[in-house]
Amino acid sequence: MAKRYSTLGRYPTTRLRRNRREDWSRRLVAEHKLSVNDLIWPVFVQEGKNARTPVASMPGVDRLSVDLFVEAAKQARDLGIPAVAIFPETDPAAKTPDAREAYNPDGLVCRAISAVKKSVPGIGILCDVALDPFNSDGHDGIVRDGIILNDESVEALVKQAIVQTEAGADIQAPSDMMDGRIGAIRKALDDKGYQHEQIMSYAAKYASAFYNPFRDAIGSSGALKGDKKTYQMDYANTDEALREVGFDIEEGADMVMVKPGMPYLDVVRRVKDAFGVPTYAYQVSGEYAMLKGAADRGWLDWDKVLIETLTGFKRAGCDGILTYGAVDAARLLAKK
Ligand code: PBG
Repeated sequence: MAKRYSTLGRYPTTRLRRNRREDWSRRLVAEHKLSVNDLIWPVFVQEGKNARTPVASMPGVDRLSVDLFVEAAKQARDLGIPAVAIFPETDPAAKTPDAREAYNPDGLVCRAISAVKKSVPGIGILCDVALDPFNSDGHDGIVRDGIILNDESVEALVKQAIVQTEAGADIQAPSDMMDGRIGAIRKALDDKGYQHEQIMSYAAKYASAFYNPFRDAIGSSGALKGDKKTYQMDYANTDEALREVGFDIEEGADMVMVKPGMPYLDVVRRVKDAFGVPTYAYQVSGEYAMLKGAADRGWLDWDKVLIETLTGFKRAGCDGILTYGAVDAARLLAKK
């Protein structure tokens, strides 16, 4: 690679700044382009009516009651955002060690899904499959004697994926990192006749300190005992990420995700090069908080860093990005 570039032209016959001189020329040679079609908007939902609660560690992000979520989804659809992702704040009284609220067909998530399905045609609905919003231990799986149980957790996750699909969700997005969950969910969906409902697997999800604001937003930080290192990946590893992605594709994932985003774009590149499947990354709550927090202090220009970071995801090989900045980005892209 190094040789090829060094033998292609020489200064002063070749001047790389020529192509950069004018705006029209820069546009002409641009290799990657961010579009509204690349965006998935994660939204936090809560109980109540006409209720919104600011998330302290995510300035500009509010938790929304279902009626306001429907309005927000309409706005997103009208801006051309292809999909929203739903994350619920669960009443602490409904949290149990078996996380059974995860598969309550009348629970907040299912009500949010069916409300949007009913009144906002034309937008995709993605739902997390993981037990942490509903689990009194704050873990993504069921905990017994301090151990996060794999196969029992998968059984609960399958039930969750089914009720969410029955409520009308289009994409199940398992974010739990239990082994074998993609295959189990695919089989259960197919057995129920949901051959067309998609799975986006959080295939390479790392045990990251960038999730803290999210845990505040859904109210799971208080509940969480210990850390998630026995199921989420060690951030030192990338070969292991390829194994995770490979397993999930073989088990039936339609799309795969890397998470977090910005510190993990090398993983995105390897995944895209190795498999060539639809590949996504999640610009997570901590990434949003650091950019927005700095912008609010006047240290960064939010509009510019948002578009720059999202274009960085595209450059790394992402087909799309989950970002709390989706609505802002869609507006900025529409203005251009
Ligand atoms: C839950 C889940 C998490 C996120 C998405 N789904 C948190 C976690 O694993 O602890 C994080 C998203 C974010 O930080 O924005 N399984």
